[in-house]
Amino acid sequence: VNVILLGPPGAGKGTQARILMDNHGLVQLSTGDLLRGAVAAGTDAGKAAKAVMESGGLVSDDIVIAIVNDRLDEPDTKAGVIFDGFPRTVAQAGALDKLLADKGMSLDSVISMEVDDNAMVERISGRYTCGNCGEGYHDTYKQPAKAGVCDSCGSTEFKRRADDNAETVAERLKAYHAETAPLIDYYNGTGKLASVDAMADITDVSQSMSRALGKG
Ligand code: AP5
Ligand code: ZN
Repeated sequence: VNVILLGPPGAGKGTQARILMDNHGLVQLSTGDLLRGAVAAGTDAGKAAKAVMESGGLVSDDIVIAIVNDRLDEPDTKAGVIFDGFPRTVAQAGALDKLLADKGMSLDSVISMEVDDNAMVERISGRYTCGNCGEGYHDTYKQPAKAGVCDSCGSTEFKRRADDNAETVAERLKAYHAETAPLIDYYNGTGKLASVDAMADITDVSQSMSRALGKG
């Protein structure tokens, strides 16, 4: 199946995408991760994206669509893709429809993750990830079983994102409501939209998601 996870910054898109990947063998396609990779690699796209990402705005549709197009051409995506953080504008949603049609793929489901905006600053400012395997953690909600050691790979290196400060989070939430929330209407008429309560515990949210995908 190919599924879009739709939700504001901090909703748990990345957290749930990794769980779906492990449980159902799907591939996570996170445009945030791909863009951070491009910034780190110093590509032209990365150079254009860096300042926008640091301010909490949206990177231009052209850059993002090109990155998604390239990623979809990799063979592992045939297993099914979880779109995490894409599409984020109506123009990107239209482009995705076209990309999928061109590649003989289709969209099965769009899961809208419903959260309370006020809780998102706390979620995001407590977030950190494993520097080796990318497993996500939280100061309060998800600590490694052994302090300072990644559950998944045993690494002791962790990192925090440059855009995870309260000011930038406020901008990211604004961009979400202005540019991304309209996608709920875009997908509403397709019969593919489901919503889940993403304020629940991480394991409860993943159960609701698996049910929404008919894999529960
Ligand atoms: P991106 O990387 O996509 O960031 P985002 O949308 O702001 O989302 P986050 O990664 O912050 O949140 P998440 O929903 O994945 O939450 P997580 O699972 O980590 O984008 C970054 C930037 O790149 C954008 O601002 C933009 O500039 C650019 N960009 C990316 N895609 C773009 C596009 N398509 N177009 C244009 N620009 C684009 O969870 C957060 C924390 O909460 C974690 O610590 C986690 O452990 C914890 N947590 C998760 N679920 C729960 C729960 N149920 N209860 C308690 N804690 C929880
Ligand atoms: Zn790790």
